[in-house]
Amino acid sequence: MGNNLLAGKRGIISGALDSNSIAWKVAEKAHEQGASIALTNAPIALRMGEIKKLADKTGAPLIPADATSTEDLQKLYAEATEKLGGKVDFVLHSIGMSPNVRKNIPYTDLNYDFFNKSLDISAISLHKMLSVAYKGDFINEWGSVVALSYIAAQRTYPFYNDMAEAKAMLESVARSFGYHYGKSKKVRVNTISQSPTKTTAGSGIKGFEDFFNFAESLSPLGNAPAEACADYCVFLFSDLSRYITMQNLYHDGGYSNTGVSMEAMEKFSGSK
Ligand SMILES: NC(=O)c1ccc[n+]([C@@H]2O[C@H](COP(=O)([O-])OP(=O)(O)OC[C@H]3O[C@@H](n4cnc5c(N)ncnc54)[C@H](O)[C@@H]3O)[C@@H](O)[C@H]2O)c1
Repeated sequence: MGNNLLAGKRGIISGALDSNSIAWKVAEKAHEQGASIALTNAPIALRMGEIKKLADKTGAPLIPADATSTEDLQKLYAEATEKLGGKVDFVLHSIGMSPNVRKNIPYTDLNYDFFNKSLDISAISLHKMLSVAYKGDFINEWGSVVALSYIAAQRTYPFYNDMAEAKAMLESVARSFGYHYGKSKKVRVNTISQSPTKTTAGSGIKGFEDFFNFAESLSPLGNAPAEACADYCVFLFSDLSRYITMQNLYHDGGYSNTGVSMEAMEKFSGSK
């Protein structure tokens, strides 16, 4: 289904690892909507090879970049603008990883080297992506940068560990950089706070499946699937959203504004 919402636009999409990745769906939809895209991921993720299928399908150049390295990011923008034939109009930051989560280290006993890595990979990398683009003038006026977040930035979800701090920082970077980039180049920066989604990063969180079902029973519309998140990204990349910037936008089937649902109440009915 193509409406050519992104016709003539160029973009960089990070974070597609396999066909479950949210970024994978964004790449497919952006391509469907007429955009020319470049795909990027950490060198190790590229070696896994899955992403080559996506590159073939979307005609996208594949450019390795560790998002914590400003040098890699500099090369990424230089190569992407050269291969796509000009400055980019949109960038997707779809990157998250916590070594503390990976190694099942409890929040009350965090390894601080790992904590720094979680912040660097999952949040400071957005600042780096924006800063390299800002200084090198790699994004066109009215361009749009979107990063993916989670509601644990605002409320406590005990299983989310130090990723909660990373998401809080990510959203703050979007607001702060959004101000500067908006003023100088009218470039927009937003975060989408997405429902729990069955992906490699999502399922790495302890108790994810139970929580997925809990959120499903609380959200009037049900959990928002990855495909719908991709549609929302396309809208934010498009000219239909030109005055939306510095926002954290919930994309969660109504979950964030629901106190309790009748389904959830029924689970406790009669219990004392
Ligand atoms: N899955 C969920 O439930 C959910 C919910 C809300 C937000 N999000 C966010 O969506 C984003 C995408 O995650 P996903 O769920 O699609 O999972 P995913 O595992 O498919 O994607 C995470 C990506 O981050 C990449 N990455 C890790 N370290 C990197 C580095 N140093 N440099 C470059 N890339 C690196 C991985 O290779 C991978 O492609 C993440 O920011 C995640 O926190 C996910």
